[in-house]
Amino acid sequence: MNLIDDLKSGKYPVIAAPLAGYVDPPLVSILLELGAQYMIYPFISSEGLIKRSIYRNQVAGKLKAWRETMHDGWNHFQLFGRDQSIMAEAAIILEKEENADAIDLNMGCSVKKVWKAESGSSLLKTPEIALNIVESVIEAVDIPVTLKTRTGWSREDENGFWLIRESAKLGIAAVTLHPRRGKDQWNSDAIWDEIKQIVSEVDVPIIGNGDIKSPSDTVKMLNQTGCNGVMIGRASTGNPWIFPRCQSLIHDGFDMPEPSAVERIDICILHIERLVQFRGEDIGIRESRKHVGRYLKGLPIASKIRKEIVLFNTLNEVRNKLIEYKHYLQQLNSENTNEIIK
Ligand SMILES: Cc1cc2nc3c(=O)[nH]c(=O)nc-3n(C[C@H](O)[C@H](O)[C@H](O)COP(=O)(O)O)c2cc1C
Repeated sequence: MNLIDDLKSGKYPVIAAPLAGYVDPPLVSILLELGAQYMIYPFISSEGLIKRSIYRNQVAGKLKAWRETMHDGWNHFQLFGRDQSIMAEAAIILEKEENADAIDLNMGCSVKKVWKAESGSSLLKTPEIALNIVESVIEAVDIPVTLKTRTGWSREDENGFWLIRESAKLGIAAVTLHPRRGKDQWNSDAIWDEIKQIVSEVDVPIIGNGDIKSPSDTVKMLNQTGCNGVMIGRASTGNPWIFPRCQSLIHDGFDMPEPSAVERIDICILHIERLVQFRGEDIGIRESRKHVGRYLKGLPIASKIRKEIVLFNTLNEVRNKLIEYKHYLQQLNSENTNEIIK
């Protein structure tokens, strides 16, 4: 598996976005089983890796679990930071000690922790610093280096375009463009025509990202922009089926049906079981709460069920409630002539 080759050879990969706090080995195992191929490990602090041994050990443990889950898949790890030599040093650690297949540079993220370090999308305020990082990291490692960025910091600048053009000259292997301004966070629509613009300007694979909600959106983005692959973030939470469904529509023209309520609940239970196995019951159950609401979104009485589930602290209680809910929906369906719930 090689994401860069697949991007270049017209395979139009559909990549699971790095989503800090969501994408972890239990979810990755489910994504892989359902047919997703590529995902990027969420941001890792370069400063933390270099300067704090506790953080370094924690990250090493997490990356080991990630690699074991990926089997012989593509290990693509993302770094954030604003010091070019620390970023380069951290990249070497990921390459040599953590067996990374590629390193992604986070220059688009608007998460508070990343902003506070003047990194992520806030690097677009000082694009020269961002470019120095790109150059140092490319020089430091032998594996592909990719960039994930936005089109600029504010509506008044187009620094993201400049950064991508200059990074292309330095040998960046691929770029994910989320066509919003950093300052806007998620408060505006992604402007897909800006992806089209950069595709026409550089000879580097471009991954389009931003506001894909369905398989048909994926095909629309590919057609509208000419990008080489797409990345899906928020629309994949509680919806891991989106990846095989997008791939099926792109490659076979077949629009797979949406998962049934029963499938959604079954995968939700499996996800919680794996979280508990991975994190222990206490933390696993707590962490599962944010996923449950997303799996159940739009189903009858989902919010009532979710409110009940957040009060439970054991796997058995949560699982029993979900199984009971599944039976309730099946019963409801058998009384209903239109078969929405299979
Ligand atoms: C909860 C959350 C966590 C995120 N974590 C990261 C991250 O670790 N690294 C990154 O580059 N972007 C991160 N992002 C941004 C997404 O990867 C993606 O670029 C953005 O959500 C736009 O794609 P979407 O419209 O498909 O969600 C995060 C977004 C969210 C909502």
